[in-house]
Amino acid sequence: MTAQHTQAIHVRGLEKSYGDLRVLRGVDFTVARGGIFALLGSNGAGKTTVVKILSTLLRADAGTAVVNGFDVATQAAKVRESISLTGQFAAVDEILTGRENLVLVARLRHLRNPGTIADDLLRRFSLTEAGGRRVATYSGGMRRRLDIAMSLIGDPPVIVLDEPTTGLDPQARIEVWQAVRELAEQGTTVLLTTQYLDEAEHLADRIAILHQGRIIVNGTLAELKRLLPPATVEYVEKQPTLEEVFLSLVGDGGSGSGSGTNTTPATTSAPARTSKEHP
Ligand SMILES: Nc1ncnc2c1ncn2[C@@H]1O[C@H](COP(=O)(O)OP(=O)(O)OP(=O)(O)O)[C@@H](O)[C@H]1O
Ligand SMILES: [Mg+2]
Repeated sequence: MTAQHTQAIHVRGLEKSYGDLRVLRGVDFTVARGGIFALLGSNGAGKTTVVKILSTLLRADAGTAVVNGFDVATQAAKVRESISLTGQFAAVDEILTGRENLVLVARLRHLRNPGTIADDLLRRFSLTEAGGRRVATYSGGMRRRLDIAMSLIGDPPVIVLDEPTTGLDPQARIEVWQAVRELAEQGTTVLLTTQYLDEAEHLADRIAILHQGRIIVNGTLAELKRLLPPATVEYVEKQPTLEEVFLSLVGDGGSGSGSGTNTTPATTSAPARTSKEHP
């Protein structure tokens, strides 16, 4: 077995343009089995484009992507059996109850005992009591958890969550985070995209930052924080927050002021500082 078959996701040189807009310009990253990997990027960075390519909804212009050992370009059906995508916008049926939504998906996947599968997932996502209610009455966090539960039917080894908590209030976000952590504890590989730095900071084992079409850093939170030296103020060591690391790398710290070339220093210095991350 080659290395790319032992990894959950292996992406090399991915490129994608929409007309003249070059969104992905050579994206490289790998996701080890198990654990939570966050793909971090600003609005329009290309996160959804990456996850659409990984889940075979979109074809790359160049490069390779291998999911669970299967190539997205040549083994699309196998990839679709291996990965489940929870899109940026919840895809639950409002008219049905939570339980009915789950049973419906289990039936569509021709699984035995759809009722048992539904009850088990309701329990895992703390929705047992709400399971008999129409989804129209659910809060945003409950909807999101149901959406994630639905994507787990059939036990895919890899699950992709595209901005799982965008638009949720703090309590609902914490509920979704808890659900995602439990997923990872059960052995599922989770790739999530987010524009929230604290989400990546709290949830992910590894974080990659997608900026101007490339992954500019990839590492653990501790590794990312080491990219900026700690500031010492009155004998108290202040560790940089992920937000500081992110803004320093993508160079948006002083947007609106100054010369208009404020993105240049960070994007030219970042690869040099992070070259150790990509041996
Ligand atoms: N089908 C399309 N046709 C043309 N342009 C597109 C298409 N899909 C995406 N884009 C553009 O490609 C860029 C990347 O989009 P993408 O949706 O991948 O970004 P994103 O990182 O997911 O952003 P967000 O955080 O807002 O969800 C954006 O500039 C977007 O406008
Ligand atoms: Mg998106």
